[in-house]
Amino acid sequence: MKNKQSSNVLIVGLVGSLREESYTRMAVNLALSGAAKKGAQIKLIDLRDFDLPFCDGSGKEADRYPDVLRLRKEVAQAQGIILGTPDYHGSFSGVLKNALDLMGFQEFAGKVVGLVGVAGGALGAVNALNDLRKVGRSLHAWVVPHQVAIPQAWKHFHSDGTLDDLEYQKRLQEVGEEVARFAYLLSSAETRKFLELWEQAMPNPGGEGR
Ligand SMILES: Cc1cc2nc3c(=O)[nH]c(=O)nc-3n(C[C@H](O)[C@H](O)[C@H](O)COP(=O)(O)O)c2cc1C
Repeated sequence: MKNKQSSNVLIVGLVGSLREESYTRMAVNLALSGAAKKGAQIKLIDLRDFDLPFCDGSGKEADRYPDVLRLRKEVAQAQGIILGTPDYHGSFSGVLKNALDLMGFQEFAGKVVGLVGVAGGALGAVNALNDLRKVGRSLHAWVVPHQVAIPQAWKHFHSDGTLDDLEYQKRLQEVGEEVARFAYLLSSAETRKFLELWEQAMPNPGGEGR
C-alpha cells in the first residue's frame, strides 16, 4: 500500500501515561512506526504537552482550557488513531479516559482505531484493552481486531524504546499497519462512492414485494 495516496492518511497515537519513561509511549511509537511503514503520516500526541481540565460534563471545558480545542483538532485531523494505555487496576488509565471524555463523535466517529497496552504484571493489559474497545464502540469508531498487550513491560522494553522480544515489536508495528491500511481504505474514492450508494439504498434492499 505504500504509495502517494496512502501518504495522505494521518495516523495519530494518543498516549495514556504521563510517566517520563513510559512504556506505553514506547509501544505507541512502535505502532506508529508500523503505520509509517505503510506510507501514512504519523504524529504522537503526548498528553504531557496539554493543559487539560477534568471533563465536568458541561461541554464548556474549552472556555478556560484552550488546549482542549488543540487536542480535539489534532485528533480530528487524523483518519486513524492508536490508543495506548497502561493497565491501571485492571483497566485503562484515567488520564486516557479523561482525554477521551473531552472529545467525542467529532473526533472519532467513522475513524479507525488500534489498541496497544502495557502492564507491570504478568497478566498484561488485556482487560484494559477490552474496556477501551467498548469505549471505541461508544464513540462509533471502527476498532481493528488486532491489538497488543505487553505484560511485565519493565522486563521487555529497552530504554531506547525497542523490545527484547522481536515478536512483540513486530506485533505492535502490525497494529499500526492495520490501522493505516483500513484508514486508507475508508478514505479512498471507491469506498466513499460505496458509502454514498449505501446511504441512498432502500432500507431493506431486496426485501421489496416479498
Ligand atoms: C495506579 C496504578 C495501577 C496499576 N495497576 C496495575 C494492574 O492492575 N495490573 C498490572 O499489571 N500493572 C498495574 N500497574 C503497573 C503499570 O501497568 C506499569 O507500571 C506500566 O508500565 C505503567 O505504564 P507506563 O510505563 O506507560 O507508565 C499499575 C500502576 C499504577 C500507577
